[in-house]
Amino acid sequence: MNDMTPHADGTVIRAEALAKTYAEGKMKTPVFDGLELAVEAGETVAIVGASGAGKSTLLHLLGGLDTPTSGEVFVAGQQMSKLSNSARGQLRNRALGFVYQFHHLLPEFTALENVMMPVALGGQDMATAKQRAAALLEQVGLGHRLEHKPGELSGGERQRAAVARALVNRPACVLGDEPTGNLDEKTAATVFDLMLELNRAQKTSLVLVTHDRRLAARLDRTLELHQGKLRPIVL
Ligand SMILES: Nc1ncnc2c1ncn2[C@@H]1O[C@H](COP(=O)(O)OP(=O)(O)O)[C@@H](O)[C@H]1O
Ligand SMILES: [Mg+2]
Repeated sequence: MNDMTPHADGTVIRAEALAKTYAEGKMKTPVFDGLELAVEAGETVAIVGASGAGKSTLLHLLGGLDTPTSGEVFVAGQQMSKLSNSARGQLRNRALGFVYQFHHLLPEFTALENVMMPVALGGQDMATAKQRAAALLEQVGLGHRLEHKPGELSGGERQRAAVARALVNRPACVLGDEPTGNLDEKTAATVFDLMLELNRAQKTSLVLVTHDRRLAARLDRTLELHQGKLRPIVL
């Protein structure tokens, strides 16, 4: 499979009978129970819901960053709970990309180094990592900012670098948790357009948590997380 090959058809992320209850001592916080989700290859899905509904918790479970109380998550056909920590980490690096509200770029590294990192962690040589990272940074309009550290970039530029980092391994799916939530409206729209454009070009699926229903309406479908369940809504 060369770099330009679209991902195989099928379901990229599936959640089955997913339940999560946070337990801190005697305090129990049920977030959801019996949640079902299937995201198809290339599909873009918005998740909306009130603050505290469990949107971030859901993305953490889908991304294998937290474990469900019961139920299963499958990523690229692999059952997350059956993998060792290191296999789960590798699958996450290969098959998923993450973009958060705050960029989470490493402050002491340049934009280029930040975007190279997932490629190098995937076992590619440095020359390949550098070439792919530079090409993607060019695509997100940061070709002139390769050597800048996150602190030397604007908010919008930092999010664009984070988008480049999320996509650099050509993941099957990008998980975004309010990726434009910390930007002014105009910059948010630019970053959002860029994410949609790159996802469509790479045929990458996108699961995007947003409170902005206008942005949500531009994805293939919208699900609302309400009382622990996902339900389709029409915007
Ligand atoms: N680590 C945690 N321990 C206990 N409760 C938590 C933890 N993280 C989140 N919660 C609770 O779970 C619920 C869902 O949180 P979250 O997934 O962050 O919601 P959202 O992203 O939709 O705003 C909230 O009521 C929150 O207080
Ligand atoms: Mg949240």
